Amino acid sequence: MKLAMLGSGFIADFYTGALHGQRNRDRVHVVQSRSEDNLKSFCQRWNVPKWTTSMQEAIEDPEVEAVVIALPNHLHLEATLLAAKAGKPVLCTKPLGRNADEARQMLEAVEEAGIFHGYLEDLVYTPKTLKAVEAVQKGALGRILWARSRETHPGPHSDWFWTKSISGGGAILDLACHCIEIGRHYIGKDIKPVEVMCWADTLVKPIDAEDHAIGLVRYETGAVAQFEVSWAFRGGMDLRDEVCGTEGTIWNNHFLRTGFEMFTSGGKDGYVAEKAESNAGWLFPVGDEVNDLGYNHMFTDILTALENGTAPLETFYDGYVVNAIMDAALKSAQTKTWEPVDLAVWRGQELGGVQQHFTDYDADHYLVKEEVMPGGQTKIILKEKATGRMVQRVVNPQD
Ligand SMILES: NC(=O)c1ccc[n+]([C@@H]2O[C@H](COP(=O)([O-])OP(=O)(O)OC[C@H]3O[C@@H](n4cnc5c(N)ncnc54)[C@H](O)[C@@H]3O)[C@@H](O)[C@H]2O)c1
Repeated sequence: MKLAMLGSGFIADFYTGALHGQRNRDRVHVVQSRSEDNLKSFCQRWNVPKWTTSMQEAIEDPEVEAVVIALPNHLHLEATLLAAKAGKPVLCTKPLGRNADEARQMLEAVEEAGIFHGYLEDLVYTPKTLKAVEAVQKGALGRILWARSRETHPGPHSDWFWTKSISGGGAILDLACHCIEIGRHYIGKDIKPVEVMCWADTLVKPIDAEDHAIGLVRYETGAVAQFEVSWAFRGGMDLRDEVCGTEGTIWNNHFLRTGFEMFTSGGKDGYVAEKAESNAGWLFPVGDEVNDLGYNHMFTDILTALENGTAPLETFYDGYVVNAIMDAALKSAQTKTWEPVDLAVWRGQELGGVQQHFTDYDADHYLVKEEVMPGGQTKIILKEKATGRMVQRVVNPQD
């Protein structure tokens, strides 16, 4: 497939590395950006035949079959509207919009134009996350109660991220978009996010937005997804997820402790891994960043769906839901109360409230807990259904 890459910066490099790598047949046909110097070096680096500083020219190039938006956040809407006007399939990086209103305009534009759309949320496509979500969906963890996702690092690499009028926000918009979508995958993308409680502050960086935040997203089943984000974290990029249910738990570490640990008295090459703060001492490189951050699986899924005329795992609708959750988080950080998620467009289940499920022990009791004690006896904690009283039974090994 021949693609137009809008943007030639950090993420455009990762995307092109994934698209051109591993004997892939997909190619960036034209790259667009502001600066000619950067465009020329990008074309040399990735063997891209054409470049232009015009978004429209790149999108309307007759050989271009799909458009990849890898531009700063304030340009996602404009680029989507141009792609919709040209009738070209469009793939957009995260966050979809700077807020739910922008994201909804983007969703409406692609749906009204009837064009294919994919949301480039790489972290739900990491090999570990795909495997973990599959286990969750097969019921290995039982009913999901809690998910937790953390992305913290020392802050982004370009001036525009730190300029709220361009980026639209701070650590929440930049990082919680990943964490929230990971939480949705574990809890179920068809389960409605109901309300958000968020604490956010600006303690380290002289910016108009928050430099770190913690939030709780409560879903209609009663499950809670927690996000932890920071632009002020020291020590590299910390990407960790946890999910727990009534029958089990999964812990995933994607970046700083992947099992690859290395010591060097002095690095010869400056690059170790994304947002690494040092190239000497004990280091935690990542085997294949493009793959381990999900970019390969993401483009495989999205471009295969485009070829087959099916929907990919992540669409603009998902990006819109994530933006709506982040809007509620930002509001909650101001009001210091739970804020409802305003989802004008909801396409999942309507459960009508939390459903509790208690485990029956027998006709008269619920099972609370069973544990083998150091002495070998088994203690069974039960609740009497009729009286509500808690009782315990002790079963000795010899019984
Ligand atoms: N894991 C991920 O999915 C991931 C990681 C990083 C960035 N991103 C997203 O990718 C997008 C681009 O981020 P990046 O890290 O590549 O940024 P960057 O600063 O490295 O690159 C931005 C590119 O856009 C071009 N550009 C065009 N108009 C611009 C303008 N008015 N101001 C600034 N740059 C302009 C720049 O020349 C450059 O080529 C953002 O939406 C960001 O959130 C996603």
